[in-house]
Amino acid sequence: MELHADYSSDARAATAQTVRPLTVLGLETSCDETAASVVRLTRSDKGGRAEVLSSVVHSQIDDHAAYGGVVPEIAARSHVEMIAGVTRRAMDQAGLGYEGLDGVAATAGPGLVGGVMVGLGFGKAVSLARGLPLIAVNHLEGHAVSARLGAEIAYPFLLLLVSGGHCQLLEVRGIGEVSRLGATIDDAAGEAFDKIAKALGLGYPGGPALERLAASGDPARYELPRALLGRKDCDFSFSGLKTAAFRIAQTCETDRDKADLAAAVQAAIARQLAERSERAMQAYAERFEVLKQPSAAREALGSGKLFVVAGGVAANRTIRATLEGVAARLGFDFLAPPMAYCTDNAAMIALAGAERLALGLTSDIDAPARPRWPLDEARALSDPSHRPGRKGAKA
Ligand code: KG4
Ligand code: ZN
Repeated sequence: MELHADYSSDARAATAQTVRPLTVLGLETSCDETAASVVRLTRSDKGGRAEVLSSVVHSQIDDHAAYGGVVPEIAARSHVEMIAGVTRRAMDQAGLGYEGLDGVAATAGPGLVGGVMVGLGFGKAVSLARGLPLIAVNHLEGHAVSARLGAEIAYPFLLLLVSGGHCQLLEVRGIGEVSRLGATIDDAAGEAFDKIAKALGLGYPGGPALERLAASGDPARYELPRALLGRKDCDFSFSGLKTAAFRIAQTCETDRDKADLAAAVQAAIARQLAERSERAMQAYAERFEVLKQPSAAREALGSGKLFVVAGGVAANRTIRATLEGVAARLGFDFLAPPMAYCTDNAAMIALAGAERLALGLTSDIDAPARPRWPLDEARALSDPSHRPGRKGAKA
């Protein structure tokens, strides 16, 4: 197995146009879902059409509910128990034997390392036993390509990746070609949803529960602080909002109080995501003609500017609608993955793996599990507003 990291964009485009479909098994175990999926990528000058042959997701929600959040040790053990059966179901549903695969892709980070090791180790075993190329996939790259599971879209695009662990704006020029325009300096948006939901006595995970409660609330009743008001960049901060919401939650007595607070929180998060996305769209639009240049295939497409939102929080309808409105106002097409591929799943890992395989970007069998693995490593290290911390940059 070899690593070709220096493919030029034109070489990538040429490769993508000439080769047969690729069928890849994907494995995802970085948090509290054990997932396996088989995806077939038929390449085209638009970047490729993805067909999901199967997608099995075993959620561990019941294992963690009593603790109000994911317990890493319980998660890792559950992945060990589930991974073989979940993979078998994914292969059965796809109607394939291992000889029908071209490669096996597994999340190699970032995430809870005990879980990552289970899926990556299982993927390595399949790779060795069946003589299949291994593709170690960055979980964030999986989210980045997830919108391609529902529609054929070409690179480049602007991405808001907003989940339980991450909140970033990224310029995605292709697989492995990502620049970060902004990121949270404290909590991720999904984390804020989860923690505030917990303070309101809602179950885990809190995002969907808070969205349901917010539907009957008045978002204007409680005033919540706006973050980083003096700054003009694309960074996010949710800790002030979280603290203020905690304080108000302690005063909530009736269901109406709680619904009003939930609605105010959801509106405040949506507003911040919209404001930063608008700034990023403005910056991206200025660079767009330049971004289209590197490949003749991209130019031939004449594609419009595209804004994609992905990750678990993209399942929130208010947030989707708010972002869609901003995109329309700034002349961007808008796309979110199908709901099933917003939260963690293995189809997005299989697709990222297939796209990597198409470019010859396979991994060595000793590929490490990485608890921290930024997509834009250079920016994560250089930007002082995102201190890497004791163990290095997280994402
Ligand atoms: O992408 P994901 O499954 O896992 C990570 O990679 O983090 O995202 C999970 C996050 C959780 O914080 C969950 O509360 C949030 O996405 N989430 C939502 C909704 N559905 C999931 N947040 C707000 N509204 C929702 N409908
Ligand atoms: Zn995720």
